[in-house]
Amino acid sequence: MLTKTEAKSLIDQLRDKEISLGRVPDTWYTYENHVLGVAKVAQTIAQKIEGLNPERIYVAAMLHDISRTEEEREKRFHGILGYEKLIDLDADAARSAITHMFPWNIIPPFESCSKMFFGNKADYDFVAAFLKNNPRTDVDLLIQLSDTMANKDGIVTLEQRAQEYAQRFNISIPKEMIEPRYKLKAYFDDKIGGNVYDLFKAKDIDVNYQSKVQKER
Ligand SMILES: [Fe+2]
Repeated sequence: MLTKTEAKSLIDQLRDKEISLGRVPDTWYTYENHVLGVAKVAQTIAQKIEGLNPERIYVAAMLHDISRTEEEREKRFHGILGYEKLIDLDADAARSAITHMFPWNIIPPFESCSKMFFGNKADYDFVAAFLKNNPRTDVDLLIQLSDTMANKDGIVTLEQRAQEYAQRFNISIPKEMIEPRYKLKAYFDDKIGGNVYDLFKAKDIDVNYQSKVQKER
């Protein structure tokens, strides 16, 4: 099991590696805002739900994308790479890496996600078997929701994420991508007996998000 400090030092090691491989140091904040944002969202929601361990969830959530920057070089799905990197260090963090891209732990058929797996059917089969053999938990679902609630600028709503996606790719976000995530939000709204957005309010959620995206374009 990793502590928050140990988990953060894995992120720092990754930063150093990426910079040594040519990443512009000034751009690293985009990765860190995302993973630290996801960790904060997951921990904050977990604090409102009995039976969850917010500290452990913070660590697992912070590490969910530990191999995100490496997948293009390795030509393997980052969820698998992250799982392999973390499994001997922290089983919960390894689990977050392998499950975070599949809302409700549902994996689509290989044909519709082979690109994500760089065509590697063995990796796909491994993830599919993992999801089948390990019944989904609220922690899996919480990290999946939190992953959608933080981007390069920090904490955002699902609506802001959808808007960002639409602006970036000039298309509206596909229904099959957004609907399971709205259902995750509804699931956790229900769990906390309120609206998860209210846990963050304006101090965390960037209310000027839209104008900032527009300015950047
Ligand atoms: Fe992520």
